Amino acid sequence: MCHDGSGTAGTPPASRDHPPQETPNRRTFSRLLIAGSGLAALAACTPEPMQPPSSAFGTATATTEPSPAAPSTAAISPTESVAATSAGTAPETPPAAPAPSAAGSAARHSLTDPASPWVVVNKRRPLSPAAYVPVDLVQPSVRLAVSGEAALLNSTTAAAAEGMFAAAASAGVVLTLASGYRSFATQTLTYNSYVDSRGQAEADTASARPGHSEHQTGWCFDIGDGGGACSFQPCFAGQPAAVWATANGHRFGFVVRYPWLLHPITGYYYEPWHLRFIGVDAATDMHQRGTATLEEYFGLEAAPDYL
Ligand code: DAL
Ligand code: ZN
Repeated sequence: MCHDGSGTAGTPPASRDHPPQETPNRRTFSRLLIAGSGLAALAACTPEPMQPPSSAFGTATATTEPSPAAPSTAAISPTESVAATSAGTAPETPPAAPAPSAAGSAARHSLTDPASPWVVVNKRRPLSPAAYVPVDLVQPSVRLAVSGEAALLNSTTAAAAEGMFAAAASAGVVLTLASGYRSFATQTLTYNSYVDSRGQAEADTASARPGHSEHQTGWCFDIGDGGGACSFQPCFAGQPAAVWATANGHRFGFVVRYPWLLHPITGYYYEPWHLRFIGVDAATDMHQRGTATLEEYFGLEAAPDYL
């Protein structure tokens, strides 16, 4: 069951695409979001209360991951391999789930360096440094639904997005860039707005605390379809844009980062609009294996909540 947290069944969550249906409070919140450029991405629906990780992922939770307060892998270079990391001082636990096939190839990347396409950021794995800013932010040549900071991605993700958006267009599917990069300061405003509107517990199911958002890395972005149908709501999953991106994103290096009902692992409710770049090989491998989350794919502990 999915509800928007407003107490009004059937009322879509705040979104720039649904102003006529908003309540006054929700309208006020939407204005705050719009003022923050691209922050409407945080109007996620909340499907159900958090549940503990399922037993299927018990091995992933019983790991010895370093605590967020003392990340022991901070000095790992972007090109350092997962295998080498695991063989060192055990900063990264060997995969409990199926090992990434890329571990057997030359292409390996750090799971902790925010400049790495494999960096895993979640409630148990904060960005280091917390105020990280990508050095190569660019605006991709794609259809934009936002401007300014929110229209930026790191250069690798931007190039991949351009290829994916063009392929979608060739298939008759419109994708728009609805929210890209967010600075630490923007994420602070975003998260605080969400807390003010819904309270911290609900905010934590949809919005990352500052220093814990993938959006700060430039490796992810939220998509829209240009029409606003189900924008930033779970039902977006049924729209052509999301259906196409889910089926084809891996060909361009993208995965849906927060899948349906896997919040006990990812920490966030379903976000069919949030695409994360990890490279074509790894994304394709995840797709073929049917592995839904980065936590499972890289054998990391589940991150249902903050420590
Ligand atoms: N909505 C995702 C979890 C973020 O705030 O980064
Ligand atoms: Zn997002």
